[in-house]
Amino acid sequence: MTILSRRRLLTGGAVAGLGAVAGAGAVAAGAEPATLPGAGTADVGTATVAFHGPRQAGVAEDPPAHAAFAAFTLAPGTDRAALARMLRLLTDDAARLTQGVPALGDTDAPLAALPARLTVTAGFGPGLYAAAGLPSPVADLPAFTIDRLEKRWSGGDLLLQICADDPLTVAHTQRMLIKDARPFAAVRWVQQGFRRSPGVQASDHTQRNVLGQLDGTANPRGSLIDTAVWNPDGSTTLVVRRIRAEIEKWDILSVTDKENAVGRRMMSGAPLSGAAEHDEPDFTTLDASGLPAMPDFAHVTRAHVTDPALKILRRPYNYDAAPDAAGNPDAGLIFASYQRDIARQYVPIQQRLADKDLLNEWITPIGSAVFAVPPGCAPGGWIGEQLLS
Ligand code: HEM
Repeated sequence: MTILSRRRLLTGGAVAGLGAVAGAGAVAAGAEPATLPGAGTADVGTATVAFHGPRQAGVAEDPPAHAAFAAFTLAPGTDRAALARMLRLLTDDAARLTQGVPALGDTDAPLAALPARLTVTAGFGPGLYAAAGLPSPVADLPAFTIDRLEKRWSGGDLLLQICADDPLTVAHTQRMLIKDARPFAAVRWVQQGFRRSPGVQASDHTQRNVLGQLDGTANPRGSLIDTAVWNPDGSTTLVVRRIRAEIEKWDILSVTDKENAVGRRMMSGAPLSGAAEHDEPDFTTLDASGLPAMPDFAHVTRAHVTDPALKILRRPYNYDAAPDAAGNPDAGLIFASYQRDIARQYVPIQQRLADKDLLNEWITPIGSAVFAVPPGCAPGGWIGEQLLS
């Protein structure tokens, strides 16, 4: 194999079929790895996403491979002036780090050199508005019967969503920003998640989640993201749900049972009423036995929304913590969804899923938090400035 073809494999230049996977394995097994200077991976490391702008980054871009969602509880007495000081610090360091520049007083400056598409997105929980003496645009979700929420994964006054194509970049950024927030707020929870690594599959292909499903097919794209996600002032809202998957129970289902639970084919992602992944589901199509091809209890049937203004943008990450002593996985989704208005868009979908979604047999929400995501800022400005100054 030539160096060029190895390079193409490593950078995703070749279609990630089985042959490509085998080829990459051969490189990893040690066949002359030292002869791959850079191997194209430097492009992944040095890639940047602009920090400044009317909207915060980290929402509409393709999600990078790694994420940390860090939620904070404000220290008692943190008032509007203190919030402004904290957000100035956080904004300044986030702006630097996302562009590959060390944070102020960065004790490990070389770790900042490879931003790998780093984004930092700040969200404000209801408690932050209360601390500032302002009405909150977001409220905790109503309780759903399927919820088994744990305090250690729920709530938060401030959220930092840190995403990058490299986990060391995420870890360093998280450490620098927690340092900034420390005088004002305590860490409440951190949830780490992952998606496919860059180059593993073509970037325009839908990814699979830990349940093996193609996840993200029906997400709004292009201008439909504007309709569903962005308010005219550049703000949006974020729902974070930690949803445990009972994978050991899911594993024993037949493929047909899995497909009926979701309403889509496991292999192709096609709706059960259609043939290809991006065929619109048709809820009037009948199967050979005269029943709706899309069962009314299927996840997609329950979650489907036709009005573009009522859709949500799902940006989930997988999690996979240590299994229990019996080897049962502790895995699932850090389900993150962006929409203009949680009450109008998210809650009705979640209510329909809570009322009747066969997938509930294998998934359990164990954490929940809501945040308003304020507009972005120009160089010299800071996130939350319009609200708090
Ligand atoms: C572990 C939890 C979940 C899993 C494994 C899961 C999985 C899936 C899968 C496989 C699809 C079909 C492909 C696609 O369009 O992405 C889908 C669609 C969808 N899901 Fe989920 N989902 C989960 C939780 C949720 C939650 C909490 C919500 C919102 C409350 C939600 C809302 C939707 C929506 C709106 C669609 C698109 C429906 C359509 O219009 O076709 N999902 N989900």
